[in-house]
Parts: sequence; structure tokens; C-alpha cells
Amino acid sequence: MSQPSESKLWGGRFTGATDPLMDLYNASLPYDKIMYDADLTGTKVYTEGLNKLGLINKEELTEIHKGLEIIRNEWKEDKFVEKPGDEDIHTANERRLGELIGKHIAGKVHTGRSRNDQVATDMRIFVRERLIDLLEKLNTFIETILKRGELEIDVLMPGYTHLQRAQPIRWSHWLSSYATYFTEDYKRLQQIITRVNQSPLGCGALAGHPYGIDREFLAKGLGFDGVIGNSLTAVSDRDFVAETLFWSTLFMNHISRFSEDLIIYSTAEFNFIKLADAYSTGSSLMPQKKNPDSLELLRGKSGRVFGGLAGFLMSIKSIPSTYNKDMQEDKEPLFDALTTVEHSILIATGVVSTLKINKEAMENALTMDMLATDLADYLVRKGVPFRETHHISGECVSKAEKLNLSGIDKLSFEQLQEIDNRFDKDVMHVFDFEVSVERRDATGGTAKSAVLKQLQNLNQQLK
Ligand code: ARG
Repeated sequence: MSQPSESKLWGGRFTGATDPLMDLYNASLPYDKIMYDADLTGTKVYTEGLNKLGLINKEELTEIHKGLEIIRNEWKEDKFVEKPGDEDIHTANERRLGELIGKHIAGKVHTGRSRNDQVATDMRIFVRERLIDLLEKLNTFIETILKRGELEIDVLMPGYTHLQRAQPIRWSHWLSSYATYFTEDYKRLQQIITRVNQSPLGCGALAGHPYGIDREFLAKGLGFDGVIGNSLTAVSDRDFVAETLFWSTLFMNHISRFSEDLIIYSTAEFNFIKLADAYSTGSSLMPQKKNPDSLELLRGKSGRVFGGLAGFLMSIKSIPSTYNKDMQEDKEPLFDALTTVEHSILIATGVVSTLKINKEAMENALTMDMLATDLADYLVRKGVPFRETHHISGECVSKAEKLNLSGIDKLSFEQLQEIDNRFDKDVMHVFDFEVSVERRDATGGTAKSAVLKQLQNLNQQLK
């Protein structure tokens, strides 16, 4: 049993020893030390607030700030020595400050503050910085997709529904589709950052500050956009964690679909794309194999991120107001999700910028039956109602099949006329994939002009 020690910040009231396993079970330092920088900056600005109140004098403030910078350096250089009783990053930093500048001065930094508003503040600073970094990485990822889209605008491929060939599209249209998802993710992330960036500092354990600290001053000093308006909420609100986890889950969901498409396109059966060696691995048994492991991991990791969200929501469900230790369970899923998403964006960027496409295979996969709708549209242009033309085009498909022809384009003009005499000579122009995609020039469609406009629009939304 460890002693009810001096070394514990809340040691005064406790006389019994703690079960060593309880110490381990309770400790968050192994994972929350990642927030050391935010914690030190939080204390720095908080003590400035105390100084304004006359609770810490100028000399003491200088000492404190010097000590904090020494600690920051120790963490940075991996020289910080953790000690038993360092329950979390907050207690570890304060304990160390006492060693460096003496307990008399260090003992003042926590005046009016609780670990409850402290941890909420640290988390918000930390999450804000990580999300801003994700925004930048996401920006690069989307730009990479958009650039490919512009370069390979002339490549056609089948578009699928139900994973069955449906209508011809441009490869760039497919790229633009995912760029659209990811741009929505980008904008959603910007919105989340504004909600993360609100300050809980100066709310104490739950009831507010007994010395009337200037919370706006603290918020400004820490780069927050404003303060949270209720002290009970300020210390216990973890919606920003839930939102970040949900955002990560949705993003990974998009990534998993993107990856799944590319995995399918990379099979020998499709052969539309080839992954660079840098993002593939071989088989230990079958020498011929080249596996799309990068894409499979991108697809698979969506599971753990969602698991983190589900687990966290269960942890905070029904806990009474305000702070409860359950809330310490916010950290591991959150940190894991942030790292998983960050790495996933980087890997996905690498995959997209290095894969090679096989234009011939994509275009050879286009079949004339994919133009059956275009044949129906042809008659619509001659004034025939679509429901009727749909039926007529179906008859053409079935006749071509019966005659064992390779496609509807192989029906002679006379055979088409037998089905419907409103077919004119110019019907043969329908059987052209390029014409088909070009016809869809309404906003969002497959025409070259429409796809280029999409790419441009997306680009502008990133700026
Ligand atoms: N390590 C704790 C956490 O992450 C810090 C807050 C502790 N507060 C308390 N009242 N015990 O949640």
C-alpha cells in the first residue's frame, strides 16, 4: 500500500493507504502527459489572472513563469522525471513546480482553480490545436484529389449503382465525388473548432471563482473565442469531445468507402488502378501477390474510431452534474481517434498522389448497354414521353440479346426502325460514350465543363 502521502495533492484528509492497483487504475498521466504544453500555458495565463487580483505578486509571477518554462523544456526533451503520486499531468506539473521554485510560491498557483476547470481548459486547447492541424492536412489531401481530377479529366469509366455498371462517367467525376465529401468534412471541422474554442477557465471545481477572476482576460490569453457562460457546464461539458469523435467517425466512414472503391478498382478483374509499391505489401506465401494493405487499413480503422465514439457516449451517459471521474475516460478514445485520423489522412494522400490509373482498362469496361438510357433520351428529344421511350429502349436491348449481338449499337438502322419508326438515321450518334457524358452538362454532371466547375468550386471552398 502506498502512503497517504505529502506527495498527493489532496493528501491532507486521507489517512489510509491506497491500494497500489487503485493508484494505477486512477492515474491518467500515462496518456494525459501528451497535453503538457496546454497545461503549462493554462497555468501561465491563470497566474497572470491571479496577479491582476493581487493574489500573486510580480516577483512570484516571474518565478512561476520561469519554473513553468523549465518544466516545458523537460517534457520537450523527454527529461521530465515522473514520481509516484503524479496522478495526472496537472498534479505532475504542479509537484515539479514546487521542487523548482519552492512550495511556498508554487502553492499559490492553484488558488481558486480546480483540476476540473483545469482539465477542461487543457483539453480544449489541445483539441483545438490538433483539429487545426487536421484542417491543414485535410486541405492538402483534398487538393491532391482535385489536382488529379484536373489532370485526368479526359478519362472515362463506368459509374456503378449496386456495384453494377450503370452509366459512363469521368474518372475525375468519381474523384470529385469524394472531394465533395471531404470538403464537407473540412467545413464541418471548421464549425466544430469554433465550439471547441470556448474557455472554461476560472470556474473552479464547479461553483465559480471566489476572487472574481477576469475570465475574459484568461480566455483571451489562451486564444479562446469566448467563455462558457455557466460554471457547472464549463467544468462538465464534454460535447466537444463527442463532436470530435463523431466527426472523426464520419470522416473515417467516408475514407472507408473511398478505400473500398479503390480496392475493387485495383483487383485483377477490374484493373483500373495500380497502387504504388510504397502503399502495398507482398504476401509471405504467394510471391505474385501485391496487396492493397494501405487501403484495407484505412477501411478497417474506421471501426476503432466508431468504437471510441460509442464507448465514450456510454461512459458519459447519465452521469450526474458536474465533474465525475467517469469523464477521465474521454481521453484515450479521443487521443486515439485524433492520431488515427491524422495518419489516415497522410496515408490516403500518399495513396492518391502515387497510384497509377489504367485508362484503357477503364474505358474497355464501358459497354453499350450502359447507353440504353441515352437511347431512350434520344426518342424523348423527338417528342416521345419518357415512360414510352424507356420501354422501347428495353426492347432494343432484348432484341440485340436475342440476335446474339455484342450490344445495342450493333442493331442495324432497319432493325431499330422495326421496333419504332421514330428512330432516324442520326440515332447512331447515340452510341458514343463521350457524347453520353458530355450531354450531362447540368450542374454536378459528367460533362467536362461540369466536372471542371465542381473541381473549381471545391477548391474555392478550401480557401
Ligand atoms: N485526470 C482528471 C481527468 O482527466 C483530472 C480532473 C480530476 N478532477 C477531480 N476532481 N478528481 O478527468
